Amino acid sequence: MKRATNHLMKRTAVLLTALAVPSAALAWPWSQDMMNQPSIKPQEGAMTPFPARSIPVMGIPTKVANREESRDLVNPIAVTAASLKKGRNLFRIYCSACHGLTGKADSPVSGKIGAIDLTDDYVQTSMSEGWLWGTITFGSYVMPAYGVPGEQGGSNDLSVEERWHVVNYLKNGLVKETQVAAK
Ligand code: HEC
Repeated sequence: MKRATNHLMKRTAVLLTALAVPSAALAWPWSQDMMNQPSIKPQEGAMTPFPARSIPVMGIPTKVANREESRDLVNPIAVTAASLKKGRNLFRIYCSACHGLTGKADSPVSGKIGAIDLTDDYVQTSMSEGWLWGTITFGSYVMPAYGVPGEQGGSNDLSVEERWHVVNYLKNGLVKETQVAAK
């Protein structure tokens, strides 16, 4: 009987030691030796400056804070066949679900969410190119943003340039195309 108890105690002691050693080992001074070398650690010292003419990998950031501030922006992208083609593709991918392929708010969900006709005077004449770009960038009341993630439940799926291509298509391609289609 006594022998059995002794044996059990010994086994318990071995088990406890086995459990305790690894956790204590993490705190031993030599466990960080490998890290403390004469090398430059992350965030240590002055950062190497970016090479001249670098641009952020995400493209040129949006410099205006909201749609109001975008109203007078000047469209930097010329209306070329290439730009209209890009704008048309993007329009069909990103805008047509709600505004219709023709822009005339004739998609199956247009009426349900109140998407507007983009071919009428309200958009074609009264809205500045900056305002259109701002609407795509920041979203509108229901419409999501395409230049600012999280804004209006939106994303930054479209780069600055891509949004201008869509503006070019809205103002210079959409209506013409709709007229041709209606003939
Ligand atoms: C999820 C549906 C949806 C998508 C996708 C969408 N829109 Fe809209 N859009 C709306 C709705 C709804 C309105 C009207 C209510 C509002 O202003 O939010 C609107 C309004 C607009 C307006 C008028 C803004 C104003 O000042 O009255 C423009 C311009 C516009 N959209 C352009 C676009 C373009 C360009 C795209 C593609 C990049 C697009 N929309 C994608 C739903 C959408």
